[in-house]
Amino acid sequence: MKLLVIGSGAREHALVWKLSESPMVNKIYCAPGNAGIGSLAECVDIKAEDIEGLLNFALMQKIDLTVVGPEVPLVAGIADAFEEKGLRIFGPGKAAARLEGSKAYAKEFMQSYEIPTAKYGAYKDFDKAVAALHTYGLPVVIKADGLAAGKGVIIAHSRQEAAEAIESIMGSKKFGEAGSTIVIEEFLKGREVSVLAFVDGNTAIPMVSAQDYKRALDGDLGPNTGGMGAVSPAFAYSESDEEIVRREIIDKTLYGMKQEGIIYKGVLYFGLMLTDDGPKVLEYNTRFGDPETEVILPRLQTDLLHIMNSVIDGKLEKAEIRWSDDRAVCVVLASGGYPEKYDTNYEITGVQAAAEDAMVFHAGTKNSEVKLVTAGGRVLVLSAVGEDYDKARDKAYAAAAKVNFRNVHYRKDIGIK
Ligand code: AMP
Ligand code: GLY
Repeated sequence: MKLLVIGSGAREHALVWKLSESPMVNKIYCAPGNAGIGSLAECVDIKAEDIEGLLNFALMQKIDLTVVGPEVPLVAGIADAFEEKGLRIFGPGKAAARLEGSKAYAKEFMQSYEIPTAKYGAYKDFDKAVAALHTYGLPVVIKADGLAAGKGVIIAHSRQEAAEAIESIMGSKKFGEAGSTIVIEEFLKGREVSVLAFVDGNTAIPMVSAQDYKRALDGDLGPNTGGMGAVSPAFAYSESDEEIVRREIIDKTLYGMKQEGIIYKGVLYFGLMLTDDGPKVLEYNTRFGDPETEVILPRLQTDLLHIMNSVIDGKLEKAEIRWSDDRAVCVVLASGGYPEKYDTNYEITGVQAAAEDAMVFHAGTKNSEVKLVTAGGRVLVLSAVGEDYDKARDKAYAAAAKVNFRNVHYRKDIGIK
C-alpha cells in the first residue's frame, strides 16, 4: 500500500515510524514532514492545511490510505473531501471533528448526553459573558470556542483577570475568529489523564493511557506549552477509573454521536480530569495527541495499519490490538524561550548517539546543506521504554544528554511520580 501521512511534528514521525513496520506498506509520503521523517518517508512540500493540494496529490499518486495528524485539516473537512473522491482516509469528518473544533458544541453535546464535565456557559456577547462571571467560583476557566493551537485556555484567579481574558479573546481577538464565542467553565481540581481510543463508528477501543506534561518548567511551573514530555501509562489511573471512563464517558460519547447521526471514525482523545467526584472530560481532541503518541505507539505490539484499516472498514471489533506492559517516557527538547520567543537555525549535534538510548522523533528540525538545524519551538522528542518508569526515564535522559544545540531547554522531571 501507498500511504500519505499529513503533518510535520514528532507525532507524525512516530506515526510514520510505526506504519513503516507494517508488511503491507510499500511507500510512505509525508506532507510536509520534517528532517527526521525524511529518513523513513518521502516528504512532499504541501502544507497540512492545503486540502486541495493534498487531495490532488493523493489522486495523482493513487494513495491507498491517508492518515491525518493535526486537527486543522480535520476541522476544515479534509476527510469528507477525500471520501467524496473515493479516497480512503483515517480521521473523522467535519461534523465529528466539531467535538474539537468548537468547545461550545462539545460542552452542549456533553450536557445533552449526560457526560461528566465542568459546569459551563457559552457566550457570544461580551457584556453577557462578563455579567455571568459572578456565578462562578475562583479560579475560573475562560476558553476561546475555536481552535487556538492549545493556547486558547486561560485560568483566571480573579474576576478582573477573567474579564481581561474575555476582552482579549472577544474584543482584541487574540485568537481571531476562534474567539467570537467563549466558554466560561468551573475550575476542576484533580489529576489529568489522556485516554485515546480507536473508534470505527460503532466500537471504541481505548489505547493505553498517557499523561502529558504541559508546563514549560520543572515542577509544573511556567507557561503552558504544546507538551514538554509524557509518560504511558498515566500514573495512578486505576482499573476502577478505567471502568467509569468506559461507561460514563467513552460509551456515552459514542452513543451521542450516533444519536446525532454522526459516524465517528478515527482516533478520539479524551482529555480527562480525575476529580474527587470521578473522571470528567476537560476536552475532546479528534486526533492523536502530541506528545502522547510518542509514548503510546512504542507500546503497540500489533500492526497500526491493520488497525487503521479496521477502523475505516467498521471492523474494529475484530482487529488485533496488543500493548506491551512496558512503561514509556518521552522528553521534549525545546528551543530556549519556547513557548514564547525563540530563535531557530542552530545546528543540532548528537542525534545519532542519542538513538542508541532512545527513539528520536523529530519535531522542528530541517536539513540545511549538510547540517541538521532547529526549525521550531519543540525540536526533538526522545522516547524510551523500560520495565519500569525509572528505566525508561534513565534511557530518555541519557539520550537527551547526548544532544546539543544552542539554548536547548528540557524539563528534568518527566516521569518522576
Ligand atoms: P483544554 O484545551 O480544554 O484541554 O485546556 C487546556 C488545559 O487547561 C487542560 O489540559 C487543563 O490543564 C486546563 N483546563 C482546561 N479546562 C479546565 C477546567 N475546567 N478546570 C481546570 N483546568 C482546566
Ligand atoms: N497533548 C495535547 C494535545 O495533543 O492536544
